[in-house]
Amino acid sequence: MIIAIDGPAASGKGTLARKIAKHLGLHYLDTGSLYRAVARDALSRGFRLDDTWAVVAMARSLDPASLDDAGLREPGIGEAASRVAGIPEVRAALLDYQRHFAARPPGTVLDGRDIGTVVCPDADVKMFVTATPEERARRRFLERQAAGVEMTYEDTLQLIRDRDARDAGRESAPMRRADDADLLDTTEMDIEAAFDAAVGLIKRKISQ
Ligand code: DC
Repeated sequence: MIIAIDGPAASGKGTLARKIAKHLGLHYLDTGSLYRAVARDALSRGFRLDDTWAVVAMARSLDPASLDDAGLREPGIGEAASRVAGIPEVRAALLDYQRHFAARPPGTVLDGRDIGTVVCPDADVKMFVTATPEERARRRFLERQAAGVEMTYEDTLQLIRDRDARDAGRESAPMRRADDADLLDTTEMDIEAAFDAAVGLIKRKISQ
């Protein structure tokens, strides 16, 4: 069984996907961590993100064992990941790993931007998790504040809007709700309510 969960930054899809995987006993892959790791590897070796040749080389030699690095969640790496994710050769280099992972028994949950559309178009369950930009910015702002990162709510909202525009506007596998994906708008939900709604969607889909 493959569960594909897509959605924009700070929509809560990662927390939700991890919780669903745990609940159902499935493997979980945060595909954003692949793009984050490519950006990290390029920057830590002193390459510019517009050095396509170097960034593609980082994607082709990515070590999946390095995906648990806490540094991947640092502010700035998400934006950098969004930039390298626009390079078609980077996306192509990461595709096989994601598809192999998706096929692991007894089943998998993958979250990202293009799982239901490109990586696993035949997934058994597809969800597009979203919330208004204002609510996502509010969540991200509180997260950053708790981590001691100084950034205003307005700047956080602008970053969210810029990231949405870049992820949805790129030519190669843009962020998009698959035609057969269920929409889960978490604007008015906390994580428990979103989890209950997601489990309800999965049960409905599987019993069809
Ligand atoms: O989910 P995230 O915020 O960790 O993702 C970071 C960036 O990686 C995101 O802005 C775009 C890119 N990404 C992507 O293009 N495709 C995916 N399947 C996952 C992430």
